[in-house]
Amino acid sequence: ELGTYPHYMIKEINEQPQVMRKIIKEYQDDNGDLKIDKNIIKQLNEADRLYIIAAGTSYHAGLIGKEYFEKWAGVPTEVHVASEFVYNTPLLSENPLFIFISQSGETADSRAVLVDIKEKGYKSLTITNVPGSTLSREADETLILHAGPEIAVASTKAYVAQIAVLAITAAVTARELNKVSDMNLMSELAKVTTAITSVIEDADKIEEIVKSYLETARNTFFIGRAMDYYVGLEGALKLKEISYIQAEGFAGGELKHGTIALIEEGTPVFALSTQEKVDLNIRSNAQEVKARGANVCVVAMEGLEQEGDAYVIPRVDDMLTPLVSVVVYQLISYYAALHRGNDVDKPRNLAKSVTVE
Ligand code: F6R
Repeated sequence: ELGTYPHYMIKEINEQPQVMRKIIKEYQDDNGDLKIDKNIIKQLNEADRLYIIAAGTSYHAGLIGKEYFEKWAGVPTEVHVASEFVYNTPLLSENPLFIFISQSGETADSRAVLVDIKEKGYKSLTITNVPGSTLSREADETLILHAGPEIAVASTKAYVAQIAVLAITAAVTARELNKVSDMNLMSELAKVTTAITSVIEDADKIEEIVKSYLETARNTFFIGRAMDYYVGLEGALKLKEISYIQAEGFAGGELKHGTIALIEEGTPVFALSTQEKVDLNIRSNAQEVKARGANVCVVAMEGLEQEGDAYVIPRVDDMLTPLVSVVVYQLISYYAALHRGNDVDKPRNLAKSVTVE
């Protein structure tokens, strides 16, 4: 199954353009309009608030999904870590809809929430890669990710699929609620697919970044603002789980509230800038850490790039940049783990699906 690839993780990173094309096809009708099941549309229309429940990488996808539901459809949305929700349960709205995001559909923490909210009579939708999985069988409705089997423990293509399916679901919700949009999501997703392909073709360049920034690193930071903050969280998780380099993702504005104390001569800091409205702010955060000795690696989007940036991703719609920028971080993590001689596909202490709470 691996074919010519040395690891499942790099195979799955490379499959992402194909996954995007599959999703575009599956969620489109004959007229090229967005299509999802009418029962799901009904559920979404009736909800006064969405509660996204997930763990790990799927939680990070949920954070981006919230932006889509709120900005495009105007539906209030909360995102919760499954294991916390059980006892840190927020006050619920009158007609909540629970959306479970899970690659495997087997995560016990998420299932515990599903069992609990079903007992209380609330509606549920599972977004999963595995039809027939526990979370899919037990929820009222299911949306499939169509990413194909994900074997590597570190999730890559499922994350991208989750964001794409959340975008489509939110855009359908917006359409049903008669929210006007000047964006043709499917054609923007097609541009994203091309952009992902071009990042993958730059794998050698990204391996060079790893050589310049991470070869001897023991700890590292991922900063960003707005959407880029969420991608930083995912970049940090990916890096730590397979390279074992300590990594922390946080909001650029939070630096001065504590973390900047950890910056030493040579500390690698990854700063992402794809959002025009916060470009200047994140650039000044990058300067702040640089002035304290950090080895700053800026990844910017075309149009916002400056001299000295380490990598420039092709321009895509502002709201869809996570689908492309994350691929840079996936490749950075892959090469960092590879260069350390780690078992890339089966990192220590981790299991592909976490079936205990
Ligand atoms: C990280 C990773 C995990 C999973 C988490 C949830 O690369 O794979 O953080 O995202 O265990 O798993 P699912 O999505 O199967 O519920």
